[in-house]
Amino acid sequence: MKIQTDFLILGTGIAGLSYALKVADYGKVCLLSKSSAEETSTNYAQGGIAAVISALDSYEKHIQDTLIAGDGLCDEEVVRLTISDSTERIKELIAYGAQFDRKKSGEFDLAREGGHSEFRVLHHKDQTGHEIERILLEKIRQHPNITLYENHFAIDIITQHHLGQTVNRRTPDLQCYGAYVLSLNENRIDTFLAKTTMVATGGNGNVYATTTNPVVATGDGVAMVARAKGIVKNMEFIQFHPTSLYHPQEKPSFLISEAVRGAGAKLCNLKGEYFMEKYDSRLELAPRDVVARAIDSEMKITGDDHVFLDCRKISKTTLLQHFPTIYAKCLSIGIDISKDLLPVVPAAHYSCGGIVVDHNACTSILHLYASGECSCTGLHGANRLASNSLLEALVFSHRAYLHAVEAVKTLDICEEVPEWNGEDMVLNEEMILITQSLKEVQTIMSSYVGIVRSDLRLKRAFDRLDIIHRETEELYNRSIHSMQLAELRNIIKVAYLIITLSMERKENRGLHYSINNL
Ligand code: FAD
Ligand code: SIN
Repeated sequence: MKIQTDFLILGTGIAGLSYALKVADYGKVCLLSKSSAEETSTNYAQGGIAAVISALDSYEKHIQDTLIAGDGLCDEEVVRLTISDSTERIKELIAYGAQFDRKKSGEFDLAREGGHSEFRVLHHKDQTGHEIERILLEKIRQHPNITLYENHFAIDIITQHHLGQTVNRRTPDLQCYGAYVLSLNENRIDTFLAKTTMVATGGNGNVYATTTNPVVATGDGVAMVARAKGIVKNMEFIQFHPTSLYHPQEKPSFLISEAVRGAGAKLCNLKGEYFMEKYDSRLELAPRDVVARAIDSEMKITGDDHVFLDCRKISKTTLLQHFPTIYAKCLSIGIDISKDLLPVVPAAHYSCGGIVVDHNACTSILHLYASGECSCTGLHGANRLASNSLLEALVFSHRAYLHAVEAVKTLDICEEVPEWNGEDMVLNEEMILITQSLKEVQTIMSSYVGIVRSDLRLKRAFDRLDIIHRETEELYNRSIHSMQLAELRNIIKVAYLIITLSMERKENRGLHYSINNL
């Protein structure tokens, strides 16, 4: 089936939804999610969204904090334009109806997280993302120009390659005509033809065995754009959140927000020794890479597979008021965080790199935009400052909207695009071929390409991935497509990018840390 639209949007997190709501006043929108619309990282965001709101704060302070966290690799112009737009974008969210916690005085109750020199994180208890997703989806569902396609999995973006032309990274005027999409309910591959396409497919935490990301985060957008010969960078900078709940049988790992450390929780090893002093004078509120490495080092010294977060100095009232979800979750597995030590372990959390975009969220492929975690704007550099990612998505989706509504006026649909060719393909009946390979990739990435890397580990990861890559391509080329197989292929592509870019970076910077660069 062929479906035509002005604006095709892949993803229903903060990036896709905030963009959809704005462009919908200028044309027809097809908005896709591979699972239910709510199943996004956005929906699970806890700590909040960073913005300059307090009179004690300033754009300059937030800019400096972002630049310091980024360890010299941020694009300063992007940092400045993003932060100076923060107040406007927050006002817009509030005007949509998003509720952020306030003090009795009526002022916003701002939190502080690692790397921030001021209290500037707006939050809705520990469910900030859910509040944002809720309000945006509510408005999306009311908009007459938006058709929401849940359970629609984008397989590949369409370019001249699908018209039979040979393309490579130097092809001039490489352009996007839409996407091939697997409708999971119909089990059919549809052709979505669009004047402009937005990739807002989120992160890639599931490349690793332990992640805070929901299962939908398999790096599909980055893999699709890389396959289409678009430019991707900084993939070596994977942020591991220092504190996910240590509960090995559960996937994804439940996040223990940094805001808990902001409220005074301390890290100790299993002997009860508080250790952050040994690693950084900013203690528990040092930037994430520092805290995650400190925990990793502590676990290696002691041989333990987790450390503890001690929340007992935080009053029970504060815990219940500010962290009701975290409190209830821990209690559900028998841990009362007002009395008991909380076992935590670092987990893959955020991808700082991604699809390279300019100031208008335009990718290197014409008529193709990217926003949110799948993109690389230059804001985060080598390490993202906590709570800057929801903000980045809002700012760049806004800029993409301003650009796209002008661009769309002069663009046509490319009618020559052929329908997906699935002839001669056989049904892959052995899921084990996919599930086992997935586990292998995740184990390889966690064991060899985690918080601390080395040349030897990266080489091992590359060699092992190469075997799985060849097997998977062979399977992909002869099988009828399933989401699981396409996701595995995407995860392998992203893992390959993380490994090769890590091998190329011969310095320790931000989140990339190798013992060979010491
Ligand atoms: P997402 O919200 O992840 O949405 C991705 C969308 O893309 C989904 O709709 C998915 O179905 C769709 N999709 C993916 N692949 C395909 C495909 N092939 N076809 C069709 N659709 C597809 N950041 C902060 O700033 N503050 C926080 O407090 C915070 N807390 C966090 C807590 C957790 C547990 C996690 C996991 C992340 C947190 N982050 C936080 C990071 C932040 O939530 C994410 O970076 C951000 O929400 C990403 O938004 P997004 O719109 O780019 O993608
Ligand atoms: C958290 O609440 O600790 C997550 C914040 C973030 O990832 O920015």
